[in-house]
Amino acid sequence: MNVEKILKELTLEEKAALCSGSDFWHTKAIERLDIPPIMVSDGPHGLRKMKDDAENPNEAIKAVCFPTASALACSFDRELLETLGKALGEECAAEGVSVILGPGCNIKRSPLCGRNFEYFSEDPYLASQMAAAHIKGVQSMGVGTSLKHFAMNNQETRRMSYSAEVDERTFREIYLAAFEAPVKQSKPWTVMCSYNRINGVHSSQNKYLLTDILRNDWGYEGLVMSDWGAVDDRPVGVDAGLDLEMPTSNGKNDVLIVEAVNSGALSEEKVDNCVRKVLELVNKAEEYTHEGAVWDKEKHHQLAVKIAKECAVLLKNDDSILPLDKGSKIAFIGEFASKPRYQGGGSSHINSFKVSSAVEFADKYADVTYAQGFVTDKDETNKALLAEAVDAAKNADTAVIFAGLPDSFESEGYDRKHMKMPKCQLELIKKIKEVNDNIVIVLHNGSPIEMPFIDDAKAVLEMYLCGQGVGEAECSLLFGDVSPSGKLAETFPVCLEQNPAYLNFPGHEDTVRYAEGIYVGYRYYEKKKLTPLFPFGHGLSYSSFAYSDLEISENEIDADDILTVKVNVTNTGDITAKETVQLYIAPVEPYADRPLKELKGFEKLELRPNETKKAVFKLDKKAFSYYETKIADWYAEEGKYKILIGTSSAEIKAEGEVYLSNPRKLPIRFDLNSLCGEIKQYPEAAAMFEPLFSQIDVGNGDSQSDAISEEMIDNMIKDMPLRTLVTFTDVPQITRAKITAMLDELNKQLSDNI
Ligand code: BGC
Repeated sequence: MNVEKILKELTLEEKAALCSGSDFWHTKAIERLDIPPIMVSDGPHGLRKMKDDAENPNEAIKAVCFPTASALACSFDRELLETLGKALGEECAAEGVSVILGPGCNIKRSPLCGRNFEYFSEDPYLASQMAAAHIKGVQSMGVGTSLKHFAMNNQETRRMSYSAEVDERTFREIYLAAFEAPVKQSKPWTVMCSYNRINGVHSSQNKYLLTDILRNDWGYEGLVMSDWGAVDDRPVGVDAGLDLEMPTSNGKNDVLIVEAVNSGALSEEKVDNCVRKVLELVNKAEEYTHEGAVWDKEKHHQLAVKIAKECAVLLKNDDSILPLDKGSKIAFIGEFASKPRYQGGGSSHINSFKVSSAVEFADKYADVTYAQGFVTDKDETNKALLAEAVDAAKNADTAVIFAGLPDSFESEGYDRKHMKMPKCQLELIKKIKEVNDNIVIVLHNGSPIEMPFIDDAKAVLEMYLCGQGVGEAECSLLFGDVSPSGKLAETFPVCLEQNPAYLNFPGHEDTVRYAEGIYVGYRYYEKKKLTPLFPFGHGLSYSSFAYSDLEISENEIDADDILTVKVNVTNTGDITAKETVQLYIAPVEPYADRPLKELKGFEKLELRPNETKKAVFKLDKKAFSYYETKIADWYAEEGKYKILIGTSSAEIKAEGEVYLSNPRKLPIRFDLNSLCGEIKQYPEAAAMFEPLFSQIDVGNGDSQSDAISEEMIDNMIKDMPLRTLVTFTDVPQITRAKITAMLDELNKQLSDNI
């Protein structure tokens, strides 16, 4: 299809029509010009395609549910995400779906967001890497993705109307950064805008977001669609760069577009821009005919099992109680052992063709008894079930409790009210502890929970919502076929009140102040010296690893150089296992306000016993940078940086240092209200003003009280504006005219330097 030719042939009405869907899942066809419709479907961790004969758009075909994003991110494995993407792409190709709606890479600001299970991380670098790999995998199969929800969709409360009130640096450095790398590196065919408003403006009509940042700054060339029902004022959206409204508006918004063009409120060129993107998308989808494409459900189920094994995080393992001793008496307790919770509610809900439970696979390994213990449809202790479970635990060497959050505790559409587990499950754990000390807890939840039981459990295995292969994966991990290798992609605070968003979540009426700024997740806990329950990046193994021979290619680099960091990791245990090497950068005495450290690289290595492998990282300027609003750009401040190699954010195994020099200076201007302290801090300014400062007598007594007052005067001078030097001193040479002249010269010198 020749897009430019068709654009000339379309009537204004037809163009307006193409700017929205024909129904829930299709773009419009224009038969007269042979423009076919294409189909989109959810996403993100499985295919939720509407059945051909269904009346309800949410009635989906049978498919495979893979682990959800919160679990996937714990794999810290780009290749795995790409493999998952390829499988999803294969399913879409065979089922005639052109675009799968996902991945979602919104930042986890609060553990309470009902949709956290669909998002990757609290850290923008990790989230961006996971999303980029997912997109790469899907699109390598000739199927598009929709990177969502762009942007600031970090809660479900009032999700279609709240305004995220965020400062520019936080917006760019935390929330947009999660989208920036996948957009630039993996070029998603489509991006889905979010429901909410950002600083008062709906994302669906936010020109700053959709055109200035996405297209102009990041060079995005694909299509932008709305989230389902996110459109407020459609003509304003067209003007702002929202190409496609989804789903259909039943023609109502198409009429508004035509009227806006006819009245002169909207230029037809802007409508053309949207239509061009729709036609280009249709063209792209049509390029891949996928003729004869098929997919194998069973094979993809096996992949779901494999992925689940890579995602599980071993949070605690006292006395090496795991892996379980196959010869011992084991009780599996809790409804999730027979009916696991493995996915979340809402638009990502997959109609799984089968689900594996731990009970089903346990026999393969050992003689395991099962007791249901609790129900999940209400939070009420069932006395008979509790007694049966306590009995089973009494007669077992080890009690493995399959606990977690029931469906009603977290879902798309609403936020959690607290971080607690159901009371009936907590009571069950307590009662079991009374009869058995060997407790292992296997968790099924989309987002962090408080763990009042942590001291009662010898081991905790966090499965998150691990997809339909979860039961088989659990047995394989619990009995030691494979060692857990997941690492937490988010911090588990001790309690909700520790969380940085606590005071401003979910906001008041329609206003949500992102008052914690850049201090999201571990950036906050570390700076505040708060010890969380489990830190970001934490995850144990059945094996052990030693780190050695850290090599940093240079002691000093220029901002444009690439720094290479290498470190050896040796498996010092006696089983094959994987370790995720994490690289953090920590500015030493930065002038700018910076987190103590930030994740800037990770590599997952598989190691046989005694095997050593090298993790290699390449760091560019961006890795050292923060978003500097003075230049509206990322900026690597000159100075010393620590390179930290960790097995988690809290456990650093090796460290080195590099000095980064940057000839690019930030624009700076001094005036009569600049503080003497600022002048002293800035080398060029200090050099010019020092002779003048030296004329000011601050007293120089030698008694202790004189020393104190000298220090006090020094401090006062630091915070005094230059103008006060004139009035507070009686040095005749210090005049307002003289200082103004010096400032003019200094400012000229400084601007010449930039
Ligand atoms: C969700 C999207 C989803 C869409 C289509 C919306 O409510 O926010 O993530 O892709 O529905 O189901």
